[in-house]
Amino acid sequence: MTVAAYPHWYILGAGAIGCLWGGQLFRSDIPSTFLVRPERLNNNTPSPVLCITENQQRTEFPIDIQSIATEVSIQNLIITTKAGDALPALNAIADNLTSDATILLLQNGMGSQQQIAELFPQYAVYAGSTTDGAWLESFLNIHRAGRGKTWLGPLNPRAKEFGHYSAINSLTKITDIDVTFVDNITEKLQEKLAINSAINGLAVLHDCPNGSLLEGALQKQVQNLCTETAQILSADSYTITAERLLETVNHVLKVTAENINSSLQDVRNNRTTELNWINGYLLTRAQKHGIAAPAHKQLIQALADKDIH
Ligand code: PAF
Repeated sequence: MTVAAYPHWYILGAGAIGCLWGGQLFRSDIPSTFLVRPERLNNNTPSPVLCITENQQRTEFPIDIQSIATEVSIQNLIITTKAGDALPALNAIADNLTSDATILLLQNGMGSQQQIAELFPQYAVYAGSTTDGAWLESFLNIHRAGRGKTWLGPLNPRAKEFGHYSAINSLTKITDIDVTFVDNITEKLQEKLAINSAINGLAVLHDCPNGSLLEGALQKQVQNLCTETAQILSADSYTITAERLLETVNHVLKVTAENINSSLQDVRNNRTTELNWINGYLLTRAQKHGIAAPAHKQLIQALADKDIH
């Protein structure tokens, strides 16, 4: 009997999305190993257990975990760190990558993935965008808040050469994560970036749940951010009207009205946000196209004045 052999994936970044993927890879019989900082291992070896709680039901996964300092040969890597940590984390293990490595980047915002794709042209670099919701209670202990969709696609020429005919294909077989392979992942990243750009930073500044942005002066600011985001992204390759974006954003605000968005959760947990790769990225693109973008500028300045990065 021939048993389908799945490639072995290493996961760099044991945050909420990393743990969600680690658990589901385990459930799908796709071998995987977490790579963590050496000090993380002390309390969790020799039998580390990952817990995912969903609808009050807790599932435990006896995962494999190693220090990033261990010398291993890494052919397939998923990076699930925050955007700002992705490149330093990759640099820390770069010597362990095989010459034909496949890398999947699962970060919010844009800019960090493109930088890695350019810096590592020898590897097939893919990116993903997800609407899955999960939050980290403590190390290896997450809550799955909502099931969404995940898109994966090639980012650099090497990955485009392979398309889905690489180890990435095994990830479309994962149980309980709705994964679709797309050729144009940049469009999916832009779509999510556009929505986050009108919600996350503003809700952080006013320390409020998403739904508060539907009313009064805050809704006016949402509208201004949508207008600028649509203008900036349309000058890139993503054509969207301000009206269409505002409609989508307000729909998201309604269905997530009670939510504390991921950036505000970061602030409340003393973590650096990914806003630099959301509004910050858009400002860089605006500058490139000679677009003023005052609403984004003011938002970033107001956040910086509060020492929020
Ligand atoms: O970042 C988040 O929390 C989510 O992307 C969204 C859509 C803003 C909902 O909270």
